[in-house]
Amino acid sequence: MEEVRDRLAPFHSPALKLVAVTDSPSAPRRAVFDEDEFSERADLPDDLSEDVSRETAALPRPASPRTFVVANQKGGVGKTTTAVNIAAGLAMGGLKVLVVDMDPQGNASTALGVDHSEGTPGTYDVLVEGAPLIDVIQRCPDIPGLYVVPATIDLAGAEIGLVATVSRETKLQIALRKFFKEFYVDYVIVDCPPSLGLLTLNALVAAKEIMIPIQCEYYALEGVTQLMKTIELVTGRLNDDLRLSTVILTMFDGRTNLSTQVANEVRTHFAEETLETVVPRSVRIAEAPSYGQTVLSYHLASAGAQAYRQAAEEIARRGPTKK
Ligand SMILES: Nc1ncnc2c1ncn2[C@@H]1O[C@H](COP(=O)(O)OP(=O)(O)OP(=O)(O)O)[C@@H](O)[C@H]1O
Ligand SMILES: [Mg+2]
Repeated sequence: MEEVRDRLAPFHSPALKLVAVTDSPSAPRRAVFDEDEFSERADLPDDLSEDVSRETAALPRPASPRTFVVANQKGGVGKTTTAVNIAAGLAMGGLKVLVVDMDPQGNASTALGVDHSEGTPGTYDVLVEGAPLIDVIQRCPDIPGLYVVPATIDLAGAEIGLVATVSRETKLQIALRKFFKEFYVDYVIVDCPPSLGLLTLNALVAAKEIMIPIQCEYYALEGVTQLMKTIELVTGRLNDDLRLSTVILTMFDGRTNLSTQVANEVRTHFAEETLETVVPRSVRIAEAPSYGQTVLSYHLASAGAQAYRQAAEEIARRGPTKK
């Protein structure tokens, strides 16, 4: 307790206080430094201290933070939907979760209801400018315990901005390591763009576990081979801790034989890794982002929300598998 307080001490300084500024209750939040005053909402670092309501979590807490990268270079397979809804499910289970949006499209930031208009501090500043994560983190307005590093369109220039820099593929890893020296979250979930460029590479280097969403459609496994090769390369050279721990079947349509066939094929390939929970194709899931919400906050009773909640529970309960 004392130790935690000591470690947080610098963050009680008004000069370093992060505040969530809102023009109206529904307006997107924006993290800025407040030089002059303490605000009631200015409690982000405290929130991220280790000793806040740890005992009340309904889901088991990992012994140490679990870091996931949600990757699949095939577009539109449900990476972002999975990243934000699994994150929401874990946070609703009482855990602290940080989502890092690594996609210049900023879809995860949209779905989590945080400001990511051009110029908003976010992933770009962390990767290219070396900004500390804590300086760019925003709180998801709907779900306590859920935090976001937003991605703006500026991130589209990051690949170019990083090309000439030293250790360009370890920027996120370094930022996370620094963050964990002072703050605590149970899960970090990194949402990747549909490519295997420098942004995804940064995520693969920073994470310990890979989660691959696979859409129950034609060509479902197309691209997974390429991804597996990239994972092998990263594991061999840049991040020995990385392993594929989780495969999640998305957009399952029980009325079609195709969905069932794809699901069976994936389970044959990834017997250990594939979650039992299957995410159905669901209108509520598709609608939720347009309200700046996860499906769990938008329509908790829907089949899609329940599936993601169950998937989050499965991930939390089975824990990190040994390499
Ligand atoms: N289970 C589902 N049921 C219905 N629609 C879904 C489901 N999962 C995702 N979608 C929709 O499918 C589209 C693609 O999903 P999503 O954006 O999560 O994929 P992605 O892999 O992140 O895409 P990208 O490669 O562009 O980043 C979105 O419009 C999303 O709302
Ligand atoms: Mg996406």
